Amino acid sequence: MGVRTAIVTGGSGDIGRAIAAALIAEGCRVGLIDLAGDALDTAAEALGAEALPADVTDEPAVEAALERFGAVPDVAVNNAGIGRFASLLDMPIETFRHQLDVNLTGAFIVARATARGMVARGSGAIVNVTSINAITTGPGTGSYPASKAGLAKLTEMMALEWGPSGVRVNAIAPGFIDAGISTPFYADAAVRKLRGDAVPSRRLGTAEDIAQAVAFLASDRASYVNGHHMVVDGGVSVSLLTQLPRVAK
Ligand SMILES: NC(=O)c1ccc[n+]([C@@H]2O[C@H](COP(=O)([O-])OP(=O)(O)OC[C@H]3O[C@@H](n4cnc5c(N)ncnc54)[C@H](O)[C@@H]3O)[C@@H](O)[C@H]2O)c1
Repeated sequence: MGVRTAIVTGGSGDIGRAIAAALIAEGCRVGLIDLAGDALDTAAEALGAEALPADVTDEPAVEAALERFGAVPDVAVNNAGIGRFASLLDMPIETFRHQLDVNLTGAFIVARATARGMVARGSGAIVNVTSINAITTGPGTGSYPASKAGLAKLTEMMALEWGPSGVRVNAIAPGFIDAGISTPFYADAAVRKLRGDAVPSRRLGTAEDIAQAVAFLASDRASYVNGHHMVVDGGVSVSLLTQLPRVAK
């Protein structure tokens, strides 16, 4: 068997770079799909990965990027995503649609473009990065939770359709991650403490925490895991009853 190959979308972002590094550490040749720009070139050079500029919402551009990669990847990670947060009453419809387009339709475009070759070959692993917002909705986040819940459901459909051809499709739901789109939020020390203390594991998560879980689902160690939505959040999404006072008897 040759070198394992992987593509990571949003590969120049914080979580994307950590995922790429984890896959490279496991011996993969990695291509980073992200919007064209210095950030992508710098990330690719620093990691020893290949820069594959493409907007994930643009199907021909994604197909051209995969063509440049030159192999049907063994692993495809749909990590590209945007967080455009606003109340539903205020969110412009263009923003609502754009968020669905990148987070949901973009993931579909990349997954299908890679799955065609994976299905024909009879092997492959796809990992979709969602959010705990897919499960427990954060207020004021507009169409973000709907985009991620859609991706979680789409993960199941892909597993059903492509599983019989040897392709596994799973999702990871990151919790409070001190990186990427949440960086401005956690720049506030009071917010960091409040959020970290609310997590049963008593800390915010890191990009590396997500990368390790993705690397596991992408690997043969997870060869019988298919259609699963794995929450990686230090337990915060199951901690509702610890947040509420107990009624004294
Ligand atoms: N950071 C968190 O707290 C957190 C929590 C839950 C889920 N997530 C998810 O993790 C993923 C990675 O986010 P991050 O926090 O590393 O943010 P980030 O902004 O650092 O990375 C996102 C990357 O996606 C790229 N991207 C955006 N639109 C694109 C498009 N149309 N085509 C190609 N690439 C595009 C960006 O250029 C960027 O490099 C996202 O899907 C996000 O929703 C993050």
